Amino acid sequence: MAVPLVNDVAALDEVSAAEAVGQLTTVLSAADAAYHNDDAPFLSDADYDRAKRCLAEIEAAFPTLATGDSPTLRVGAAPDGRFSKIEHSQRMLSLENAFTEEEVADFVQRIRAFLNLKPQDPLPFTAEPKIDGLSLSLRYEHGVLVQAATRGDGSIGENVTANARTIADIPQKLQGSAVPDILEVRGEVYMAQEDFERLNASDAGRTFANPRNAAAGSLRQLDPTITAARPLRFFAYAWGEVSAPFATTQMAAVARLAGFGFAINPLMTLCESVDEMIGLWRRVEQMRANLGYDIDGVVYKVDDLAYQARLGLRATTPRWALAHKFPAERAWTRLEAIDIQVGRTGALSPVARLHPVTVGGVVVSNATLHNEDYIAGLDSHGREIRDGKDIRVGDWVEIYRAGDVIPKVADVDLSRRAPEAVPYMFPTTCPECGSAAAREEDDSIRRCTGGLVCPAQAIEKLRHFVSRAAFDIEGLGARVVDELYQDGWIAEPADIFTLKDRYGPGQLTQLRNREGWGDKSASALFGAIDDKRRIPLAKLLFALGIRHLGEVAGRDLARNFRDWPVLVALIDRARPAAIAYRAAEDAERAERTLAVQEARKPRPKAARDAALAMLDTPAEATAAWQELVSINGIGPVLALSVSDAFANDLERAAIERLIAHLDILPPEDTASDSAISGKTIVFTGTLERMTRAEAKARAEALGAHVAGSVSAKTDLLVAGPGAGSKATRAAALGIQVIDEDEWLKIAAQ
Ligand code: IVH
Repeated sequence: MAVPLVNDVAALDEVSAAEAVGQLTTVLSAADAAYHNDDAPFLSDADYDRAKRCLAEIEAAFPTLATGDSPTLRVGAAPDGRFSKIEHSQRMLSLENAFTEEEVADFVQRIRAFLNLKPQDPLPFTAEPKIDGLSLSLRYEHGVLVQAATRGDGSIGENVTANARTIADIPQKLQGSAVPDILEVRGEVYMAQEDFERLNASDAGRTFANPRNAAAGSLRQLDPTITAARPLRFFAYAWGEVSAPFATTQMAAVARLAGFGFAINPLMTLCESVDEMIGLWRRVEQMRANLGYDIDGVVYKVDDLAYQARLGLRATTPRWALAHKFPAERAWTRLEAIDIQVGRTGALSPVARLHPVTVGGVVVSNATLHNEDYIAGLDSHGREIRDGKDIRVGDWVEIYRAGDVIPKVADVDLSRRAPEAVPYMFPTTCPECGSAAAREEDDSIRRCTGGLVCPAQAIEKLRHFVSRAAFDIEGLGARVVDELYQDGWIAEPADIFTLKDRYGPGQLTQLRNREGWGDKSASALFGAIDDKRRIPLAKLLFALGIRHLGEVAGRDLARNFRDWPVLVALIDRARPAAIAYRAAEDAERAERTLAVQEARKPRPKAARDAALAMLDTPAEATAAWQELVSINGIGPVLALSVSDAFANDLERAAIERLIAHLDILPPEDTASDSAISGKTIVFTGTLERMTRAEAKARAEALGAHVAGSVSAKTDLLVAGPGAGSKATRAAALGIQVIDEDEWLKIAAQ
């Protein structure tokens, strides 16, 4: 096989670079598979190294082309799933972000309200740099390091124990006495800027875009001797499972971690007020350039661990911590073209193709332009942004990046606009399939109306389907999906589950004969697909790729209905009401417009009720719709979107074809030993010893659903003094009513 080397990387443009990356990746993947899976190498070691170095060089020049599963990140390995998986005994969380001082003040105020603190009650926070590395969880049993795992999706990470053992800042054995028998220490692996420069200058096989990528690439090496040769460091700042509490404040806990032998960040400070927090944030920002390692903000944490426990966690973030980010980095460059990408839900997204420019240490050549209004200089409410300046191809534009987020176009310099520049005409047909691209009222996004006919939507749906938070099929990443889709082997999710029947052993055309595949990798993929025939309901719902139906909504629906047929029957029954709801919304909008034209006040409710009455919705449908939208977290917008998806013949048929291959699992009960797990609770009246927010959070942590109003589905009403109609209604429905004392007993579990 010829090796498609590039002699002069500097001469490449974005398009030819992308092409070269594609070719090199194909060759290297095939070579990896041939060598490791089939023991039949077809490239000499020298050719292999040359191809890999060439790819690394291009990725360094065009970082946006460097994918997370690039062969340059592999050290001789199977395509995917190189490390074994570890389930975290306590989830690894991320942090809520704030960008302004008001948001910090709000955060503190929210916590005070949640805990019902008086203005004079102290509420200290720790403040420390947010290290720009990757988080790692280290498990110690009886003081000895037994396991190290990356964050992964927060629940399941990768086992990188052998590599972590090579990092000098990570003790193999903990020092001191009174070390808890089980202690999971969490912190950040990072690379100092100086070490990063030195590594890039040396011949480490590839050039990394920034210290964080270098740290990630170094930790995720299959061969620990490579990790050992990389100058990785570690700051400890948190913990997971512990067999016994080892402090009562965040500050003291981190001091104990230092006592056990960990490096902790020397800038960590205790702050007594918002002013002190902001003051520290400003000081750290001043020091940022001279710290020697990358940071992207300051993390504040409630110092009192008893308060932390009361505040608890949201889906992926704790209520008691906040990351206050530093302002985004900015740079000016020329907008060379605007491309339109079509997403999974048909959204046409404009992408700015830029003359490459360095923004905060990373070369940027693409940025998002959000939608057609944004290009025209309007926000989602039709108000002017950038003083109404539109963006044209050829313009000088200001790019900014904040942390991980996709670069954005912030501003345009009219003084440098060419006289011949013309306003950008947003397409009204889909660039992928030619179908009409339409905008609904109140939606800033133009969408392709082609549905599954549109290849872009089909492929994005497939990519979403196999993504980590969805079916997460090992060996079936976005790239493999793309290839199989292009060749017509899979067109929709159901096809994944018939792949073996069509291209497995005994068939004329076989997966194992495809370029880059072999006996082992093909049968591993069929095995991985079979493993996912049993799938939790929540994951399935998320994987369907229905607009607005995210991971959290998937879990909410699954928790409430548990059973696929029950849920589908309800959605079907609710359909007439969903149609009526949309009609009512349309009527209401029309009424508002008319009112403006006639210079009178709108009659909001009247229009909606009239439309509903006109449609003569069966009571059964209304009840089903009510049931759907009364679920915590499920609003009418999501319910309507789900209803539309299930009512669309093409989509429905594709879903049915998929379901035929699956065994759908009901959700596992969280906190199943709690007295209120799985129950629906309503709070009413005033609670005197716990705020409403805390009561709701506590009930949810114990596995209950909290509803806003009493219905036949309510199991328990907690009524404080002053409970009014809800208590009466509950009594009429025969629902158990308890007072705050009894509630506190349940909450104390
Ligand atoms: S605390 C309880 N402290 O930021 C939440 N995280 O954006 C655990 N990070 O995944 C995180 N410096 O990888 C915490 N001083 C710090 C941190 C820090 C960096 C990372 C961490 C986390 C991510 C969230």
